[in-house]
Amino acid sequence: DSIDAAFTAKGKIYFGNIGDEGTLAQGETTEILNANFGQITPENSMKWATIEPSPGDYKWAGADFLADYAMANGKILRCHTLLWHSQLPDYVSSITDKAEAVAGRYAGKCYAWDVVNEIFNDDGSFRDSVFYRVLGEDFVKVAFNAARRADPEAKLYINDYSLDNLDWAEPKVTAMASNVKKWIAGGIPIDGIGSQAHLAAGGASGVGAALSALAASGVSEVAITELDIAGAAPADYQAAVQGCLDVETCVGVTVWGVTDAQSWRSEDTPVLFDANYEPKPAYTALLDML
Ligand code: XIL
Repeated sequence: DSIDAAFTAKGKIYFGNIGDEGTLAQGETTEILNANFGQITPENSMKWATIEPSPGDYKWAGADFLADYAMANGKILRCHTLLWHSQLPDYVSSITDKAEAVAGRYAGKCYAWDVVNEIFNDDGSFRDSVFYRVLGEDFVKVAFNAARRADPEAKLYINDYSLDNLDWAEPKVTAMASNVKKWIAGGIPIDGIGSQAHLAAGGASGVGAALSALAASGVSEVAITELDIAGAAPADYQAAVQGCLDVETCVGVTVWGVTDAQSWRSEDTPVLFDANYEPKPAYTALLDML
């Protein structure tokens, strides 16, 4: 009955979810993760403001907890995220120091790192961030090179939202794919593109085509990294997961939240288990499909 077993039987690497020390302690969360999911992403514990709230003052406890949980339970760890304009501390220190300290500490434990997160606007231009203002697009090169030095094994990802539909999100998908192609040609060590996939109800039909356009950039893999869908209709979840099945280089799917009560979009009831830790119809529909 494990969705991870069913999904990996189709040739994929993992079907995962998120967690942190706080949520794993709630009710049956850890039991659900242990039984059903093969991969875990820290929801917040590896973000810059959490891990280094003031310069040089590293708070490792939460991130260590999650890495230890993953190692002890045989879960693939996706590490998230080195550089993001959000959840930054008020000061911002050197990108390379941060990448080397954090990626170095978990070196060998992370299947993948989301090295940069949400760096494009919806029109495909670069988001205004402290990184872009100071370094221009070179911050991408600096971050990926630092991450590669610190953890030569991890697959290094660029991750973003609104990469799930070629109708309304086409400019962003195109900008992502063409920039990544250019960066790879320039020697920047980018291995993967992550499509977050925080979807609206009825919004999953374009996921596969968009993933395919991202895969055409020349990355070795793509993934759905933060899946949640308003209403969690079974057909929507099936369409999104089918999108990954249909794209040869799509390695896995991560759902962004175990229960609806824990979800950052809880009012949308967007994930696979309800507030009572019971599987919802979308969960059963995915198992049926796989
Ligand atoms: C969210 C977490 O789920 C919340 O708990 C937190 O308050 C804000 O961040 N894109 C990302 C994730 O890459 O890290 C975000 O996670 C959701 C949007």
